Amino acid sequence: MRILGIESSCDETAAAIVDDGRAVRSNVIASQHDLHAEYAGVVPEIASRAHAERISAVIDRALREAGCTLSDIDAVAVGNRPGLIGALLVGVSAAKALAWSLDTPIVGVDHVVAHLYAGLLDDPDWTMDSVFPAIGLVVSGGHTAMYELDAPLVIRRVGATLDDAIGEAYDKAATILNLAHPGGPKLDRLAQTGDERAHDFPISRLAPDSLDFSFSGLKTSALYTVRGNPGKQLGGAPGAFERDASDLTEQQVADVAASFQRAAVSAVILKLERLLERCDVKPRTLLVGGGVSANSRLRAELIALGERNNLSVRLPRMAYCLDNAAMLAGLAHQRLITGDADDLALTASPSSTAGLAT
Ligand code: KG4
Ligand code: ZN
Repeated sequence: MRILGIESSCDETAAAIVDDGRAVRSNVIASQHDLHAEYAGVVPEIASRAHAERISAVIDRALREAGCTLSDIDAVAVGNRPGLIGALLVGVSAAKALAWSLDTPIVGVDHVVAHLYAGLLDDPDWTMDSVFPAIGLVVSGGHTAMYELDAPLVIRRVGATLDDAIGEAYDKAATILNLAHPGGPKLDRLAQTGDERAHDFPISRLAPDSLDFSFSGLKTSALYTVRGNPGKQLGGAPGAFERDASDLTEQQVADVAASFQRAAVSAVILKLERLLERCDVKPRTLLVGGGVSANSRLRAELIALGERNNLSVRLPRMAYCLDNAAMLAGLAHQRLITGDADDLALTASPSSTAGLAT
């Protein structure tokens, strides 16, 4: 079954062609980072407009790169939640128009759950029995959560961030260090030349049995470390700081990055260890997804965690870490093979209820 996937939930316009939920024939991603950089964050109106301008060309290119035409498509998958509502609607409208004109099924996919599927793409050999039961970790710009999974679509959320998502904390810390948005990958690179013990940033633990996350304290520690105490500037207005990142040496900036990265990644590993201690049935696999799964230190520590716990870790290939449509088309296949699909009444939603008891 050949599925066209369409993604437009945030600041990437993407389309992909995936066969049988596994073989990725094309994976086209048009990033809007340059359009949002000067605002140090994604501007919803700009995002929607850019999606509308680009989506047809992105779909055309995905078809071309896969060496097929619209008439070869058996179903259309679209990320319809969660995300920026105006942005999601562009993808959902395009998917509906295509499914209607081609007379194919349409499947709305939860973007967060699809991130967990990314590590299974391009692997022709995985089976339900070899992968599940699994635990899942989503670490992205909008979400940080852990799950238990009995199958790709049978999931329970067991913990989530109480404040910032980890990618959001990375991006804000990067902004504090004067790195261009989205600064997560730049902070990761810089951290490799810094001293991770230079600053003792807090590793969020929360209550002893908590599986939730919190990254706002870490972000604030980084802010005060770089800028000094608010209000201390000579004759400064309330809220003014003593200095900013341009007053630090390159090495000092790298030290903050390395110390931040150690604390952020340690907090994630700590919660995964807690979850593993608590699982009634030992999971076979750890499924990981979301933009921060591209992080060099997190990847290394997840592999080590897998070795310590005899757990197979499914890290997505780099092209499937960040927002993409291949993961959506892959996960949609899992619904379609059970005979389940949506119809043209499909709507978009800004929030995810994935894995929550209803
Ligand atoms: O999954 P994604 O593309 O979008 C959402 O669904 O949110 O994740 C984007 C996030 C951004 O915050 C970006 O800075 C972060 O992933 N990111 C990284 C790295 N690569 C991307 N954060 C830390 N280290 C990286 N190497
Ligand atoms: Zn995402």
